[in-house]
Amino acid sequence: MARLELDHVSKTFANGFKVLDDVTLDVRSGEFLTLLGPSGCGKTTLLKAIAGFHPISAGSMRIDGKDVTRLVPEKRNTAMCFQSYALFPHMSVAENILFGPRQSGVDKTERAERLATALRQVDLVDHADKLPAALSGGQQQRVALARAMAMRPGIILFDEPLSNLDAKLRDQVRFEIRALQAELGFTAIYVTHDQAEALAMSDRIVVMNRGRIEQSGAPQDIYDRPSTRFVADFIGAANILEAEVLEELGDLWRVHTNLGVFVLRTDHKLTEKRYYICWRPEDAEVGAQCAPSNRFEAVVTAQAFQGNLTDVILAPDGAAKICRIQVRRPMTVGSRVEIRIAPEKISVLEAVR
Ligand SMILES: Nc1ncnc2c1ncn2[C@@H]1O[C@H](COP(=O)(O)OP(=O)(O)OP(=O)(O)O)[C@@H](O)[C@H]1O
Ligand SMILES: [Mg+2]
Repeated sequence: MARLELDHVSKTFANGFKVLDDVTLDVRSGEFLTLLGPSGCGKTTLLKAIAGFHPISAGSMRIDGKDVTRLVPEKRNTAMCFQSYALFPHMSVAENILFGPRQSGVDKTERAERLATALRQVDLVDHADKLPAALSGGQQQRVALARAMAMRPGIILFDEPLSNLDAKLRDQVRFEIRALQAELGFTAIYVTHDQAEALAMSDRIVVMNRGRIEQSGAPQDIYDRPSTRFVADFIGAANILEAEVLEELGDLWRVHTNLGVFVLRTDHKLTEKRYYICWRPEDAEVGAQCAPSNRFEAVVTAQAFQGNLTDVILAPDGAAKICRIQVRRPMTVGSRVEIRIAPEKISVLEAVR
């Protein structure tokens, strides 16, 4: 296990494009940290910078307190595990796993020991002599993982390792990676653009947008308390409204929106006049006739039954925008409903500019 510190890391490509913009991050030893963000936001570039494949333009990086900013990849105590597996097709499973340790001069006895351990860890002992083409996608992914682990790195960098697997297998390998990480204790930096994967696997999620860190926190904090429209929209579904601040009531605030007056609870001091606020579809309470505030009336315009839940689209009275709620049982399209959103279920996002 190793600790990783990134200090104001920036990278500009030769064509002038700034792909990483002032990234500062402290990854605890043994932490499972996920970099989450849309395509092109700089996730792979950041991983490659950490691994030493991409020089950075500004800032510094430390691993276990040692400055590695200018070190070659082999000296960094990191290993990468890629999306495309990147296995050597003409080499057996065992040879693939032994390749790295051999390159870095590990002696023969130790190599044999590492191979045996890695094969056992990923449950491929009986497949050591096969070529990658004779394995399933999930098995190939496990070889890629074994190959990274055989390097005994303090940090494993995963770049969308599960994106080539079907949904069911992805679920299974997800648990396997997490279990191995807990057992072996390596620090994991895991890249994905799949929000469900990030929420399920991570100790901490770092949401990236255009080369910058937009928000970082435990999965539940990020989901329950997004701090910007970008995060609210990227993770889960969110109803986002503009709100004008009316008054402070102790730790509550009264605001005016196009759905009416709402009271919300926040730790922030609201010093600006207008903010974006949001609430999650599943936080809507249906049938709120007697609620004194935080309520609005709407017409059900469409719905999609999902089995365990139903997604419902509402047209609120007097508002131009639709909103989404999620309920247990289907509703009647065309019917009127009363909706309440509890003060603690509303998050305050950035100020309206
Ligand atoms: N060598 C390069 N020169 C110029 N621009 C580059 C270079 N390599 C990558 N980019 C650009 O940098 C941005 C970030 O790329 P990166 O591969 O880090 O994104 P990503 O977040 O991993 O995306 P994805 O989810 O699609 O893998 C993209 O806009 C990409 O086009
Ligand atoms: Mg990428």
